[in-house]
Amino acid sequence: MARQFFVGGNFKMNPASRKDKVALVKLLNEAELDPNTEVVISPPALYLIPVKESIRKDIKVAAQNCYFKDSGAFTGEISPAQLVDSEIPYVILGHSERRTLFHESSKVVAQKTRAALDKGLSIILCIGETLNEREAGETAKVCEEQLEAVVEVLKESDWSKIVVAYEPVWAIGTGKVATPQQAQEAHKDIRSYLSKAVSSDVAGATRIIYGGSVNAGNCKELSTLPDVDGFLVGGASLKPEFVQIVNSKK
Ligand code: G3H
Repeated sequence: MARQFFVGGNFKMNPASRKDKVALVKLLNEAELDPNTEVVISPPALYLIPVKESIRKDIKVAAQNCYFKDSGAFTGEISPAQLVDSEIPYVILGHSERRTLFHESSKVVAQKTRAALDKGLSIILCIGETLNEREAGETAKVCEEQLEAVVEVLKESDWSKIVVAYEPVWAIGTGKVATPQQAQEAHKDIRSYLSKAVSSDVAGATRIIYGGSVNAGNCKELSTLPDVDGFLVGGASLKPEFVQIVNSKK
């Protein structure tokens, strides 16, 4: 079965005000979006419920993180159970900003992934190498190691709820997008790894999306690559050009 194109908008710690958040929702509510593309937007935790209540029904909402416990004394955290109770269907896990700034290991990302799946959430699972790792020729190895921790705690059937986001750290927020060759090669390697580590069915069905300086100017070409099934967009998801990115297959 063909993999449905997927475009996520990771707002990160933006926009800076409720007024800007309302304007962004209005822009998306009024836009003509490709009905064949799955669209998920991920506002900061504070805005999850108001955005979910005001956004059109064909756009889903994702949290940017969650903890692996249901409840308790974990100041500042949100649980998968709370997300499900608030009817938030997706969560982003393992983003490089969480891995580097908040010291989340692949093991913790795997624990969170397991907990989120157990509650019924879908997951955008981020992986990707640093510039040093790429220059050392370790891109595939790093992606495999990050995935391996998750593979170890998942059943084959869990993979239907996972979207893998390949986000080279050097491309995030830098304006230096991966070349089509770099993106295709990394995505193909990730798919081969899934085939080897999980199954060829899972490798064939799992969406592998690209993130890192995607914009209206580069999305069309990247969207034609055989192993690129969509995008996870940061900066450009806060701008009108997000609509063009959603429509890159149109
Ligand atoms: O989650 C999104 C990525 O970190 C990409 O961010 O589009 O601003 O480079 P960017």
